[in-house]
Parts: sequence; structure tokens; C-alpha cells
Amino acid sequence: MKGLNKRVAVVTGAASGIGRAISNRFAEEGVEVFGIDLQVGDMPENQSLVGHVQVDLTHEHSTNLILDFLSSYTKKCDILVNAAGVSEFGFFDDKDMSLFERTMAVNLEAVARITRAFLPLLRESNQGRIINIGSICSEFASPGLSAYVISKHAVLGLTRALASELGSEGITVNCIQPGAILTGITASSFEADPSFKEHWVNKAAIGRIGEPEDVAPLACFLASEEARFISGHGIYVDGAAMQQG
Ligand SMILES: NC(=O)c1ccc[n+]([C@@H]2O[C@H](COP(=O)([O-])OP(=O)(O)OC[C@H]3O[C@@H](n4cnc5c(N)ncnc54)[C@H](O)[C@@H]3O)[C@@H](O)[C@H]2O)c1
Repeated sequence: MKGLNKRVAVVTGAASGIGRAISNRFAEEGVEVFGIDLQVGDMPENQSLVGHVQVDLTHEHSTNLILDFLSSYTKKCDILVNAAGVSEFGFFDDKDMSLFERTMAVNLEAVARITRAFLPLLRESNQGRIINIGSICSEFASPGLSAYVISKHAVLGLTRALASELGSEGITVNCIQPGAILTGITASSFEADPSFKEHWVNKAAIGRIGEPEDVAPLACFLASEEARFISGHGIYVDGAAMQQG
């Protein structure tokens, strides 16, 4: 894709699932990728990464750590992908506020914090790109996932608000909204409850669960030069699950 070679990307959640697939796909296009994650996973062995930082994005100092690390390699960042996320089952008034707070801390506050921290570098790029990973839950609810649904609606809101504020500076902001994808977040629930997996297979018109590699090409396109007039949108990668009623 045009305009990706030698661009610098920071990808959160790069050790697993969708963030990992995006990192690998970027690297195939010649992007220099810096991976950020709480766990190391196979980040060090993953040849596609120029560097990686193991950090908890919910900690306030995490952004300084990441910026310091990046600056020892390069002074630029053209693409920020916010893919780190968590999802836990629980109803809105279950127990205390801890599930809600944990979910918002990772899925919303950390996204806002790291985005703010990277804005100066993205402004200096002549092709600044912010790609948030939302969800079908950015626009639809699901019982027992209220904290996740609220956080992902907010990620779409953040996407739209920033697209409107940053457009005049040439930065595009979009939100990829995956359906059910086989990753760390979903694997255990699919194993624990095969009917849950079956539900999502049937819900997708394409008739299967998605793979992280089904999501990564859209991130590449949105990061490319050719996507320069696309901003402020949530875009589904769901095998038409949301068209099935
Ligand atoms: N898998 C799906 O079906 C699906 C569907 C829609 C949206 N999403 C979204 O895709 C994104 C990626 O999730 P995934 O499905 O690849 O799951 P995953 O669990 O495979 O990857 C998420 C990564 O985020 C990292 N992470 C979590 N908390 C962190 C923290 N505090 N600091 C740093 N890193 C942290 C994890 O260590 C993990 O490597 C998430 O935002 C998720 O909400 C996933």
C-alpha cells in the first residue's frame, strides 16, 4: 500500500491477537513498528518489531516510558494503533465498581492518555494516523458486557471527536470495529461455552469466527496515504454479523 514504507508506528496490545497481526502486517509493508504490551508474549522473537516496551498502560508513567524508549531509536511517530484492551463478563450492578473501573482504565483512559502523549509527534508527521480498535460493541449492546460496551462506545466517541479536532492538521482518526475474532480475549470463552462460539459463527453471514489477520489489512489501508480523506469513522470487520438482525 502506498506511503507506508519507512513510516513509524506504535502499536499497543502488540503481543497478542489483533495488535500482533497489525504489527506483522505493517512490517510486511515496510513500517517500522514499536510494540507496547503488558505481557511480553512473543514480542522479542517477533522479527517484525523494531523494538518493544513491556508496560501497563493504566499506569500514568507508562507514556513517558514509551516516549523515552522510542526516542532512543527515532524522533518520529506517524501511526498510533490503540489495540490493547480487556473484556470481562459482568452486569452493570454486579458487586462493586471494580470491573467497570478496570475496563475503563484500559479501554478508554489509557487510549486517551497515550493518544495525547503522541499528538506532538503525530502533528509533526505529514501523514498522522490514529487507528483505534473499537468493537461491534461501539454501536450495539450485549447483556453482561455493560462495562465493555460503555468503554467501546466511548472509543468511537473519542475517534469522532479527535477526527473533528485534528483534521485541519492532516491527522486522520478512525475506529476499526471487529466482530468475533479468535484471540486471547475470546479463546477461553469459546472453549468454556461452545454454544457461545456457535452463536457467533451463525451470526456472521460469512459463517465463521474471524482471524486477527482478517482485521490487519484494514489497519494497513487506514494508515496508508490513499486513506487520507477517510476520517472519523467506525468501520466493521465482522463478516456481516451486524446485518443479521
Ligand atoms: N477478539 C475479539 O473478538 C474482539 C472483537 C472486537 C474488538 N476487539 C478488541 O480488539 C483489541 C485487541 O484485543 P484482542 O482480541 O486481540 O485480544 P488479546 O487479548 O489477544 O490482545 C489484547 C492485548 O492487550 C494487552 N493489554 C491488556 N491490558 C493491557 C494494559 N493494561 N497495558 C498494556 N497492554 C494491555 C494484552 O496483554 C494483550 O496482549 C481490544 O481492544 C478488543 O477490545 C476484540
